[in-house]
Amino acid sequence: MDGRPPLHYHEHSNIISSIKIDYEDKSQDDFFKLLLNRKTTRNFDKNKKMSFKDLSILLKYTYGIHGTRSLYDSDIVSVKKTSPSGGDLHPTEVYLLVMRVEGLKEGMYHYNTGKDELSLIKEYSFDEAVEKARLFSAGQEYTSFSSVMFFLTTRYYRNYWKYRKNSAAYSVTIRDAAHLCQTMYLICTKLNIGCYTAAINHSNIEDEIGLNPFKQGVVMMAGCGVIDENPTILLEPKFNKFN
Ligand SMILES: Cc1cc2nc3c(=O)[nH]c(=O)nc-3n(C[C@H](O)[C@H](O)[C@H](O)COP(=O)(O)O)c2cc1C
Repeated sequence: MDGRPPLHYHEHSNIISSIKIDYEDKSQDDFFKLLLNRKTTRNFDKNKKMSFKDLSILLKYTYGIHGTRSLYDSDIVSVKKTSPSGGDLHPTEVYLLVMRVEGLKEGMYHYNTGKDELSLIKEYSFDEAVEKARLFSAGQEYTSFSSVMFFLTTRYYRNYWKYRKNSAAYSVTIRDAAHLCQTMYLICTKLNIGCYTAAINHSNIEDEIGLNPFKQGVVMMAGCGVIDENPTILLEPKFNKFN
């Protein structure tokens, strides 16, 4: 870190005029309350598992398909999800490192959105699964106390099919994944499940899943788990909230 950080908010220079925004307090409205309550959780109860039903809701309403339409009046199909996607392509595929889910064997799974199925691709012992979580998140211990890590991978070739000559093509794939993560975090908030983003070791994960990262690579990770309501050490900084 180099000296003090730039200010936490920014004022543009050379402004012509300013006008105060005019908003009502929405903090008591259910939807806005949900938005305001979203936060990163790092204190997980390592002795509790999340339910398969909650995991299924998270999958279906974040990554799942809720409709189809034909693209360009052809037999090419576009799918409807709860998040938007650049070019209507939805090139993101989600893989799950399952550690603590009721009725689910520890392992690495792919969510097959066409069939609404979890396909097991690697089986782990419990100890192996939690060690992989720590390793994949660059040694961040708390991730190994959570229930599931979601690895968002992009099928670049699907995106590049349309954006072959566009220099923004790669960044669009990351923007897609970021939209999906926020959707997932809002659902977690609704279900009272803790959620987090963490740095990852991309190549370790790609090797583990068996991906060729020039075709399909990991772009982001989102995790979730059962919140530890009485942690001995609080890992989450408290914000002074306005409402
Ligand atoms: C791209 C990105 C990377 C992040 N990486 C980490 C990380 O490696 N470890 C971690 O504990 N939190 C990580 N976070 C979580 C942020 O620290 C957190 O969002 C921030 O402190 C604000 O807190 P809030 O999410 O509760 O609003 C990351 C968040 C984002 C969006």
